[in-house]
Amino acid sequence: MSQSNSESGNGDTAARGLWSSRLAFILAVTGSSVGLGNIWKFPYVTGENGGGAFVLVYLACIAVIGIPILMAEVFIGRNGRHNPITSMRLVAQRNLSSPLWRISAIIGMLAAFIILSFYSMIGGWAAAYVGHGATGDFAGGDPEAINGMFSRLLASPSELLFWHTLFMMLVVLVVSRGLKGGLERSVTILMPALFVLLLLAVGYATTTGHFGQAVSFLFQPDFSKLSINGVLIALGHAFFTLSLGMAIMMAYGSYLGRDVSIGRTAIIVGITDTSVALLAGLAIFPVVFANGLEPGAGPGLIFQTLPLAFGQMPLGSLFGTLFFILLVFAAWTSAISLLEPVVEWVEEKTTLQRTASTVLVGVLCWALGIVSILSLNVWSDVTPLAMFERFETKTIFDLLDYFTANVMLPLSGLLTALFVGWFVARESLQKDLLLDGGAFSLWYNLIRFVTPIAVAVVFVYNLVV
Ligand code: PHE
Repeated sequence: MSQSNSESGNGDTAARGLWSSRLAFILAVTGSSVGLGNIWKFPYVTGENGGGAFVLVYLACIAVIGIPILMAEVFIGRNGRHNPITSMRLVAQRNLSSPLWRISAIIGMLAAFIILSFYSMIGGWAAAYVGHGATGDFAGGDPEAINGMFSRLLASPSELLFWHTLFMMLVVLVVSRGLKGGLERSVTILMPALFVLLLLAVGYATTTGHFGQAVSFLFQPDFSKLSINGVLIALGHAFFTLSLGMAIMMAYGSYLGRDVSIGRTAIIVGITDTSVALLAGLAIFPVVFANGLEPGAGPGLIFQTLPLAFGQMPLGSLFGTLFFILLVFAAWTSAISLLEPVVEWVEEKTTLQRTASTVLVGVLCWALGIVSILSLNVWSDVTPLAMFERFETKTIFDLLDYFTANVMLPLSGLLTALFVGWFVARESLQKDLLLDGGAFSLWYNLIRFVTPIAVAVVFVYNLVV
C-alpha cells in the first residue's frame, strides 16, 4: 500500500508533499470525519428521533449521498493538486467549464473558517471536562452540582476563553508543522488512541447491565417514531459527520498519490466513521439507560447527563476522564482538518510560509471564536436577526451555526455534486476513482441524480420550513 513520491501527474506537484501511505490518508480523513458529530451529536439526535429507524435512514444517507460526495471532493483535490479554490478552477478549466464553479470551494472554505471558530470553543468544553473528571468533580453525581458545572462554564467568558485558546493552540501547533510532521503524525497517534478509548468505553458499557436495551434502541427500527423532520436531520448529519461541503476533502485529496483508488478509500472511510458513531451509541446509551436518564435529552446529553452517570458509578471518575479525553482527541483531529484548507490557500496565495500562514489564520479564527463565547453570556440577548420570526431568539453563535450547517454546507455540496456529475469528463472520473464498471456506474448515477436532488430537497426544506 505504500505510496511513493513518484508523482508526475500535472507538473505542478513537484513542490508538494504527499501522504506517505494510503493508510495515512485514511487516518487523516477518518480523523476529520470522526469528531463531535459522532460522539456528541449522533447519540443525541438518535435519541431525539426515536432510535433504530433513524439509524437506518442515516445509514442510507451515508451510502447514497455522503460517500458519493466524499469521492467527488477527493477527486477534485487530487486532480487539481492545489488549494481547494485553485483546484476547482483548474479542474473546471481542464473540462472546459466555467471557472465560476470554484464558488463551491469558496463557500466551503468560508464555512470551514467560521465553523472552526466555534468548534474550537466546544472542543474547549470537552477539555474543561477532562479537568473536571480528573479532579473528581463528577463524584457524588448530584444533578444540581453537575448542571451547575455546565452552566457556570457557559456563563464565564474568561473560563471559556481559556479553554478555547488552549484548544486553538493545539490545532495551530499541529497544522503549522505541515503535512507529514504535523497532520500525519498527529493522526497516527491520536486515531489509534481514540479507537482504544472507544472500545474501553463500550467494554465498560457492557458492565452496566443495560447493554441489550441499548442495542435494541439503536438497531430495532420503529418507523412510527420517525418523522419527516427526522429524515432531514439524518441527511444533514450525514453531511456534517463526513466533513463534507467544507472543501476539507479537496484539501486532503490534493496530497493523495495517483495510484490510490478514491472509490475504495472513500468507502472505507464511510464505514469507519459510521462504525465509530454506532460504537459511541453503544458506549453512551447503556449508561443512559442504567441511570434512568432520558435518551432524548438533547445537546446536553454528554455534558450534563453523562457526568451525572459517571459520578454514580464505580470507577466513574476514571472512565469519565477517559471519555472526555476521547472527545478532545476526536475534536482535535477534526479541527485540524478545518484549518488545513484555509492555510493551504494562504500559503499558496501569499509569500507567507507554513508557520506564519497557520498562525495568521489561527489567530483570526480564534478572534472570531470570541464572538461565540460572548454569545453564551454577555451577548446572550443580542439577536441580530430578531426581525425575522425564525431567528428571533438566535444569538450570533446560533446564527453562525445555523447558516454554516443549513445553508453553506449543503450549497457547497450541491454545487460540487452538480459540477462533478455533469461538467467533468466521465473518463477522467473513471480513471481517478478506480472503481470497477458496475460500482462506477452506480456512483455516477448517484452523483448525477440522486445526490443533487436529495441535497436540494433538504436545502429548500430547511430554508422554507
Ligand atoms: N465531521 C466532524 C464531526 O463529525 C465535524 C466536522 C465538521 C469536522 C466539519 C470538520 C469539519 O464531528
